[in-house]
Amino acid sequence: MTSSTEPAATVLGLGPMGRALAGALLDAGVSTTIWNRTPGKGRDLAERGAVVAPSPGAAVAAGPLTLVCVVNYDAADAVLRRAEVTGALAGRTVVNLTADTPARARDTAAWAAGHGIGYLDGAIMTPVATIGTAAAVFLHSGPEQLYQEHRPVLDALGGTHTHLGPEIGRAAAYDVALLDIFWTAMGGYAHALAVARAEGITARELAPFAAGIGAILPPIFEQAAAEADSGRYSGEDNPITSAASSMAHIIETAEGHGVDAGVMRVLDGLARRAIGQGHGTDGFLRITELLRR
Ligand SMILES: NC(=O)c1ccc[n+]([C@@H]2O[C@H](COP(=O)([O-])OP(=O)(O)OC[C@H]3O[C@@H](n4cnc5c(N)ncnc54)[C@H](OP(=O)(O)O)[C@@H]3O)[C@@H](O)[C@H]2O)c1
Repeated sequence: MTSSTEPAATVLGLGPMGRALAGALLDAGVSTTIWNRTPGKGRDLAERGAVVAPSPGAAVAAGPLTLVCVVNYDAADAVLRRAEVTGALAGRTVVNLTADTPARARDTAAWAAGHGIGYLDGAIMTPVATIGTAAAVFLHSGPEQLYQEHRPVLDALGGTHTHLGPEIGRAAAYDVALLDIFWTAMGGYAHALAVARAEGITARELAPFAAGIGAILPPIFEQAAAEADSGRYSGEDNPITSAASSMAHIIETAEGHGVDAGVMRVLDGLARRAIGQGHGTDGFLRITELLRR
């Protein structure tokens, strides 16, 4: 039987990530209520002890805390802003772990405040398989007191939880910046595979060396942070003129094989602009200053 002191949470959204969140809560002994727009996705979770709510209003009314994890904020709004759900949420807390923009997080926080709903925004920075393990990474923003109040249930999701401060858009802002790194790197990798294939190199053959190139990046992030924050970009070991020369080789090889080099051309163009402005002895990250329209 559920006691009033037993931790409890509701999960709205049972895509791969919502299912992982609910599974981690169940594993940690949290009394878990689930709901998904398309019925039937929570059967295995129900077998493990989750309560399948007949409606989102009933789901959020089941406990003090609701975790939302759907595709984007249009989807989250479609659920949360139904009158029956909004009404049931009054006096309760929502932690929105759906990914979207900082502006959407701020808009949802204003809506929540207008309806007496406690609101925290969150971002999940690691894949589904990490949830419930030490490898999971969660970012949160919003009122500190609310965060501390619900920390025991959040901790049940595993991994590291970082509260980035009261400004509600902060978690989404970090999420967008970090996914910017991820997707541009993935785009670069896809392009490298196309260029390598054109030269008769398989992805398998390239993989160990690709991993080596990837490993160069974390120390660069650390070293570059102080430079980027100060606006001074030292090119002592690798000036932007050298970077432009390297990119020209990639463009020439790619286009020689009929492989699109559009993304590299954009970066090469920015590097050449920086050089033209007299920053040829600076490092590649000088282009950061040219990106703002
Ligand atoms: N998967 C990952 O590894 C990962 C990692 C980090 C962050 N995230 C974030 O976690 C969130 C959820 O991701 P996901 O992997 O679970 O899959 P997803 O495909 O991004 O989201 C699927 C969920 O969204 C629901 N949904 C879509 N449109 C809806 C609508 N109009 N109204 C109500 N519900 C709607 C789906 O319900 P139906 O079943 O009814 O379609 C399902 O529950 C996303 O914001 C994603 O960016 C995911």
